[in-house]
Amino acid sequence: YSAAFEIFLQINYLNYSTDTTLKELREKRGYTYEDEITCSKECLPNYEEKLKNFFTEHLHTDEEIRLILDGSGYFDVRDKDDHWIRIEVMAGDLIIIPSGIYHRFTLDTNNYIKAKRYFVGEPVWLPYNRPADHMECRKKYLKQLQKGF
Ligand code: LAC
Ligand code: NI
Repeated sequence: YSAAFEIFLQINYLNYSTDTTLKELREKRGYTYEDEITCSKECLPNYEEKLKNFFTEHLHTDEEIRLILDGSGYFDVRDKDDHWIRIEVMAGDLIIIPSGIYHRFTLDTNNYIKAKRYFVGEPVWLPYNRPADHMECRKKYLKQLQKGF
């Protein structure tokens, strides 16, 4: 995934609070905020609508960082030729989706995932649906893509 991706790591999710890879990453990238999200019919308010929004192609002005603790799902990201790359995620996977990349997320047939979210400063989860090519973060991402991450 080198063309589209900065980071895909394996974390000891059973003891993530003492995992040194995670600790180093958090320090290096300055994550100050963390929370936990569970996506299931029972646990996520407005489940149907949220899942629909997650699966609508979008980008963010900031990185999207997820550490999967339980369950599974798929992140789809656009490669440099604008084709989808499907990435299956499950417990222990930490994924960083760069700012400005078009992506989407879906659950699989288990309809359940639990993940930690990290952020630098006050979190902004706002998605900008495609097309969002005029945005500064999009232009920056495309420049990065040309240079290679
Ligand atoms: C999000 C993911 C699901 O924006 O893309 O939260
Ligand atoms: Ni997103």
